Amino acid sequence: MLGIDAYIVKVEVDVAGGMPSFSTVGLPDNAIKESRDRVTAAIKNSGFYFPPTRITANLAPADIRKAGSAFDLPIAIGVMAATNQVNPARLENAIILGELALDGSIRGIQGGLPIAIAAKENGIQDLILPAENAREAAIVEGMNVYPVANLTETVAFLNADKEIAPVPRTLSTDGHNEHSEAHLDLLDVKGQEHAKRAIEVAAAGGHNLIMIGPPGSGKTMIAKRIPSILPKLSIEESLETTKIQSIIGILPSNTPLVVTRPYRSPHHTISDAGLIGGGKVPRPGEVSLAHNGVLFLDELPEFRRNVLEVMRQPLEDRQVTISRAAASLTYPANFMLVAAMNPCPCGFFSDPNRDCKCTPNQIQNYVSRISGPLLDRIDIQVEVPAVKYAELANETTGEPSAHVQERVETARQAQQQRFADTVIHANANMESKQIREYCKIDSQAQDLLRIAINQLGLSARAYDRILKVARTIADLDGNPHIETVHVSEAIQYRSLDRSFWKK
Ligand SMILES: Nc1ncnc2c1ncn2[C@@H]1O[C@H](COP(=O)(O)OP(=O)(O)OP(=O)(O)O)[C@@H](O)[C@H]1O
Ligand SMILES: [Mg+2]
Ligand SMILES: [Zn+2]
Repeated sequence: MLGIDAYIVKVEVDVAGGMPSFSTVGLPDNAIKESRDRVTAAIKNSGFYFPPTRITANLAPADIRKAGSAFDLPIAIGVMAATNQVNPARLENAIILGELALDGSIRGIQGGLPIAIAAKENGIQDLILPAENAREAAIVEGMNVYPVANLTETVAFLNADKEIAPVPRTLSTDGHNEHSEAHLDLLDVKGQEHAKRAIEVAAAGGHNLIMIGPPGSGKTMIAKRIPSILPKLSIEESLETTKIQSIIGILPSNTPLVVTRPYRSPHHTISDAGLIGGGKVPRPGEVSLAHNGVLFLDELPEFRRNVLEVMRQPLEDRQVTISRAAASLTYPANFMLVAAMNPCPCGFFSDPNRDCKCTPNQIQNYVSRISGPLLDRIDIQVEVPAVKYAELANETTGEPSAHVQERVETARQAQQQRFADTVIHANANMESKQIREYCKIDSQAQDLLRIAINQLGLSARAYDRILKVARTIADLDGNPHIETVHVSEAIQYRSLDRSFWKK
């Protein structure tokens, strides 16, 4: 893998006379060097002949560093082909990958889907893969994916002693994946109409959002339900998201295609590499795992400052570039940022029924941790007050997610038409030029906005944010024009700018 794309490696094996030895060349990492022990044991323990001579395995092209244990199986098959135990005919135009256990059974590998995509691009139709990776690879049209469970079965298949049926292609973006958030519905959330409206607006325009409120007010509960109101994944988005999960190896084997939007909520102790990706063996970070979905940062002020700093690039570019000595890698990272925080260290500053024990200094310190460039990229700031008992006790349920999602989809369609000839998809991604073009407001709305900025003490940078959000509210309204009511609602979503802590 390079980034989220696979490239083809050719495995050559030479068995020569001489003293017993086994070397692997072509920039292998440690896992590959250890591969000779697994290969030797797997061949012997499966009852095959292992040549007691000099063996050389070469991985080409030699200038790209290879990682992982997926070359075990091709090396083993190479050794067996060189000793006439395997007929090489079926290997001619096939890709074969898998990790070997010492007893010869085959373990799953990472990146089944991107591997299948690379195979197709290189005109290769046959894939021989570990059974647990077969379904994700079979998503790619026109592939014959043969699932294999162990070395003995693989050899029988290659020698035409056993037929294996290719895995059928299952491609459907309907239904649910069985991850824990997939079934959560907005109808469980009682009251909090203001917050629910705010997440609807955020979902409709792709806006980042922060919720501020006391402990137990339902911030986490609401955040988990945001994927349920986002537009359904397109097939391209499904493939991208599946690819990333496939690389990390977190794709459940019964899930060939991810059809629900990801929801990631890393703990505030996460490192910057964990969040944006990187590390010695580079892998995508949380921002890429949240690609096409939601990245939820709970207790935002608790995150380390440098970690929040590195978020700026992906928020701006919707992808991350990781520079490494060998090469620089790019992973997609187009996510909706959802953050939550208490208004003060004790949490009860804004709660009318509880006393806040924090000093103004403590509060100032707490808030200043999130100020600046990150906050600047969050369009919607909403207060989530403590739920009233009467609302919690109320038996009637709220509106189901599916209804909200329909309105969101309609608003997104309007944006798709608007941005048809551009690289952006949603109102949140508008640049200044587009804001001037698509967010024109009449003199009445201009007056309102001016008063808000002056009298409520809104920052100047809030101006563009308000216009973008107003555009989304008008889209939800099915209105091509931004009216005064839309602007006035958008002004509501600047809780932090409105000198929230001074009231
Ligand atoms: N509006 C609500 N409707 C129904 N249940 C609610 C609501 N708000 C909170 N609850 C209940 O209270 C629990 C705690 O809510 P949640 O964890 O979302 O609060 P929070 O705002 O994230 O608090 P903290 O600041 O401590 O993280 C929820 O799991 C849920 O059972
Ligand atoms: Mg919480
Ligand atoms: Zn407090």
